[in-house]
Amino acid sequence: MPDCDRIGIDPVWLNKVSDQLRIAVLTGGGDAPGLNGVIESCCRSLLKHNVQVIGIEDGFEGVFHGRYRNITHTDLEGLHAKAGTLLGTSNRSRIDGREEEFRTAFNKLGCVGLIAAGGDGTFDALSKLGPKFNLIGVPKTIDNDLHGTDLTFGFDTAISVVAESIDALKATADAHRRVFFIETMGRSAGWIALGGGLAGYADGVLIPERPFLFDNLFSFIREKGKQGSRGLVFAVSEAATAVNEAPRVAHRVANSPVSERYGGIAEELARRVESVCQWESRHVVLGHLQRSRIPTTMDRFLTLNMGLLAAKLARNGAWGQAVCWRNGAVTSAPIEDFMKGARRVPSEHPWVLAAQELGIFV
Ligand code: F6P
Repeated sequence: MPDCDRIGIDPVWLNKVSDQLRIAVLTGGGDAPGLNGVIESCCRSLLKHNVQVIGIEDGFEGVFHGRYRNITHTDLEGLHAKAGTLLGTSNRSRIDGREEEFRTAFNKLGCVGLIAAGGDGTFDALSKLGPKFNLIGVPKTIDNDLHGTDLTFGFDTAISVVAESIDALKATADAHRRVFFIETMGRSAGWIALGGGLAGYADGVLIPERPFLFDNLFSFIREKGKQGSRGLVFAVSEAATAVNEAPRVAHRVANSPVSERYGGIAEELARRVESVCQWESRHVVLGHLQRSRIPTTMDRFLTLNMGLLAAKLARNGAWGQAVCWRNGAVTSAPIEDFMKGARRVPSEHPWVLAAQELGIFV
């Protein structure tokens, strides 16, 4: 039986609803490949232990508007292999200023606690509900920029898209003697451009953590031409900049915890390289293709194990923890570990050194 006092549920009301332990699950923030894997493994384990699972729809919105459903085995069949999230999500919904309303609405579900797969925005909002709100976190973002975990699920799938795109565009770059700039997601961290660029052996990788000099970039490209390259492909992080420049903001999203959306750098680079280096250039923005994708085996493995551990922590009442990948294993740590802002690429990270060793412009 849930500890009703601790989470403020009216025990009389709860008894009328069910004697069975109930746990809620939601997905918050931008979607990431593997979210459905977390839902499947976590819910399968909870159902196996006779826990009733309430799936909240569309992140926090489902709590405020009473949109939720009982999760059954039928919902979970084959779910791990699907992109998106069964429960829906939102990166525009917030709790701040509405904490009491949220708590009251959540308590009506009669759940002992919540398992939330989300990024630092989701954890930050939920942690403001106080230590009495029973929460288990599953850190999620394709950007791989969360502190507290060596890896986030969705990242491997995202960099596979980048690597495959580099391979694919190399053919047309060579065919037409063109330079291609591929713009990747990642916000203020360059993990996606760097990881994908390295895996695809891009000619250059531009990331926000290592602002570039235009003159150096132009010289590198001219030199490649002299060496006989027909076409070149660069992976460019959406927030990459030249030295002393600010990232290009493409647009802003009202109500989003972080409103600016970056974009435009790849197109600008293509225009400048074409005019300065006299080498025909094009740009491609990969955008949401990096997110809306069936997860790789690596991401399936990660989410399978993260979901199982999240379920176990919740059943054991180990609230306030989040699952993570540390030192090659799925484990857990206090949720505060994951709310320390963006984890950016160290300037001398081994992947940067590897790129340099390969002669990649970085
Ligand atoms: O944080 C994940 C992410 O995909 C970023 O890489 C990207 O900048 C942003 O979300 C895009 O957000 P939206 O889905 O609102 O366009």
